[in-house]
Amino acid sequence: MKILVTGGAGFIGSEFIRQSLRSEVAPRIINLDKLTYSGNLENLKAVETNPRYRFVRGDICDISTIDHVFSEERPEIVVHFAAESHVDRSILTPDPVIRTNVFGTFTLLEAARKHRVERFIHVSTDEVYGSIDEPCEANEDFPLKPSGPYSASKAGADLLVLSYLTTYNLPVILTRASNNYGPFQYPEKLIPLMISNALSDQPLPLYGDGNQVRDWLYVGDHCEALGAVIRRGRVGTTYNIGGNCRFSNREVVTRILEAIGKPLELIHTVDDRPGHDRRYAMCCEKIEKHTGWRAHTSFNDGLAATVQWYQDNPEWLKRVRSGDYETYYQRQYAHRFHVDEDD
Ligand code: NAD
Ligand code: DAU
Repeated sequence: MKILVTGGAGFIGSEFIRQSLRSEVAPRIINLDKLTYSGNLENLKAVETNPRYRFVRGDICDISTIDHVFSEERPEIVVHFAAESHVDRSILTPDPVIRTNVFGTFTLLEAARKHRVERFIHVSTDEVYGSIDEPCEANEDFPLKPSGPYSASKAGADLLVLSYLTTYNLPVILTRASNNYGPFQYPEKLIPLMISNALSDQPLPLYGDGNQVRDWLYVGDHCEALGAVIRRGRVGTTYNIGGNCRFSNREVVTRILEAIGKPLELIHTVDDRPGHDRRYAMCCEKIEKHTGWRAHTSFNDGLAATVQWYQDNPEWLKRVRSGDYETYYQRQYAHRFHVDEDD
């Protein structure tokens, strides 16, 4: 089996590659990644010399590069992770988000159609359903109601992917996962940011009242789900993938401080995110019914493993937090903390 992975130097894509290459019948994997701020080849140290693995640096929006890779490698399966994945950045600077998430997906679909791939797995998100009122859960037929540039770009890409099935009979499968966490996650997302700040005794910026609810999915479980979808998923189907672990942000941050042994006083309530979705919740029965997969990592175990990983890898964290990270952090949080101090 030959798999073209896009965005494989990022958080989830790199876990997918490491996990796939550990399996008994490992596929050949071609990892196409532009190496943006969140792409990091250090995440792939464990596989870089594996003869079944090849890295190609390239932009999914660059038609000639994409066509060249498809012609040369003739992948049977595409697993499409590459994206601008951070909601806060998408609010600050939407342009690259729309370009990569929508136009990049289109470019790949065109190449997949021309080169007749056997499966196109599009990795999407629960954010496309928008905020879900209690006690409702979104199943795969739930209407799409994205709230911001990131989720709207993912919803747009989802619809484009499905249109390639209807119009061109491209064998696509769509997956929508909830909030992932685990090792190697760039410290701009809630859990790694809070762990990283707690480890260095910096304030933990909790948006708004902190009562927003997310479903937390351990990244290893997510990648196992994608493996199950490749093997047993049905063409033309959308699968929700959740961790069955719903918590408020305040609860998550409190648990992180407890795990690290730092005081709750490090939590600072700051200015809210514009268009902030209150609650995500999905029904994930379909993937279990079709593939037998269900999440098996409890939040306690997953969080403990994640905290331990960041404690064990201070050099990774230091390198990732150097360079442009400070500039990003100031742009994102100076205003928020300023508002907090005024209060
Ligand atoms: P990430 O930001 O860690 O990684 C994204 C990767 O894509 C990086 O390696 C980056 O270099 C690459 N990339 C970005 N633009 C590119 C381009 N134009 N061409 C080629 N490569 C490019 O993101 P992640 O958290 O690993 O998310 C991966 C996918 O999973 C995304 O599609 C995201 O929407 C989806 N998703 C993420 C979560 C989550 O909680 N992180 C949940 C559900 C779905
Ligand atoms: O739900 C799936 C989505 O999860 C993915 O599609 C996205 O790629 C991924 O970034 C993530 O989006 P969220 O916006 O839910 O994740 P984030 O980690 O940015 O924020 C999680 C919650 O924590 C959200 O309610 C905002 C809040 N938050 C976040 C940060 C970074 C804070 O309170 N403070 C923070 O500093």
